[in-house]
Amino acid sequence: MISSTMQHLLLLLLIFLTTQHFIIPSLSEKCNPQDKKALLQIKKELGNPTELSSWNPTTDCCEHRKWAGVFCTETGTYRVDNLDLSDFNLPKPLPIPPSIFTNLPYLSFLYISRIPNLVGPIPPSISNLAKLKYLYIIHSSISGEIPNTLSHIKTLLTIDFSHNKLTGPLPESLSSLPNLLGISFDDNQLTGTIPESYGSFSKLTSFTLSTNRLSGKIPASLAKLNLAFVDLSQNTLEGDASVFFGSKKSTQKIWLDRNLFSFNIGKVGLSKNLEAIDLRNNKIYGTLPKGLTKLKYLSKLNVSNNDLCGEIPVGGKLQRFDESCYAHNRCLCGSPLRACKA
Ligand SMILES: *[C@@H]1O[C@H](CO)[C@@H](O)[C@H](O)[C@H]1NC(C)=O
Repeated sequence: MISSTMQHLLLLLLIFLTTQHFIIPSLSEKCNPQDKKALLQIKKELGNPTELSSWNPTTDCCEHRKWAGVFCTETGTYRVDNLDLSDFNLPKPLPIPPSIFTNLPYLSFLYISRIPNLVGPIPPSISNLAKLKYLYIIHSSISGEIPNTLSHIKTLLTIDFSHNKLTGPLPESLSSLPNLLGISFDDNQLTGTIPESYGSFSKLTSFTLSTNRLSGKIPASLAKLNLAFVDLSQNTLEGDASVFFGSKKSTQKIWLDRNLFSFNIGKVGLSKNLEAIDLRNNKIYGTLPKGLTKLKYLSKLNVSNNDLCGEIPVGGKLQRFDESCYAHNRCLCGSPLRACKA
């Protein structure tokens, strides 16, 4: 049995805890005042959209799922480290809220997605986010050039600006980012060539630049990369893209379709992890390597509209792809195309 004094104490404790929680929330509020101020400023800069109605100045921005898209570090100090702004219907075209870049120094994950009315450039001040690891600004209407200052954020692991209206060149300086794992700039209006310096990425595993206006030759230095996924489709790139192949690499997907690439496919080494190879609509020549029949995971292959010749190797998965995957080459023959002349 608990003594009556003990009961009394417990009751007092209970009252104390309850009042702490309900009457004086500021004492237990985890949200850092500077972060709260920055978030409310961001809300204002976005024209107070209804999607941010949960960002209420009288509540705790770090309380789990209280403020939509806001997450805080949980160790020691509570600071906003994770911001997700997606699916906003802004009433008029607005720039990326500048306060994101100047007043949230602990951000490590920034995800901005599907805001059609988000316009204007990515400001050079993005480099103030000195702890940023994951950067996504996708499916919006961002324009201008990719800022060179990104190369100052040494913590970056992923940069994804796909599906926007970015113009200008690929910044050479990105190659100085020591930990970069992924670059995705698909579906923009980028021009110029792929910088030679990109061969010096040591950890890059995903490199996707499809549907842009990139041109020129692939630098030979890129042979040093070991990419799991490369997508350069729908550009006007030319030259020798065999640098992406190699039997010692762990490449899974190579998408080079709809370019002006010209190299001998017969000589490439094949990663045994290859799942998808799309080379259609190029000027690739030579005969298909026999090693293609050994690829266990191959589920997509399209080499149509090139200058290939000789017999399609028999075996593995190669006869499971239909004619359209081999059609319109110079003199490619054998199943599933018509038999080679003896
Ligand atoms: C292969 O590419 C050609 C275009 O060159 C396209 O018409 C065909 O549908 C593709 N085949 C498959 C199975 O995707």
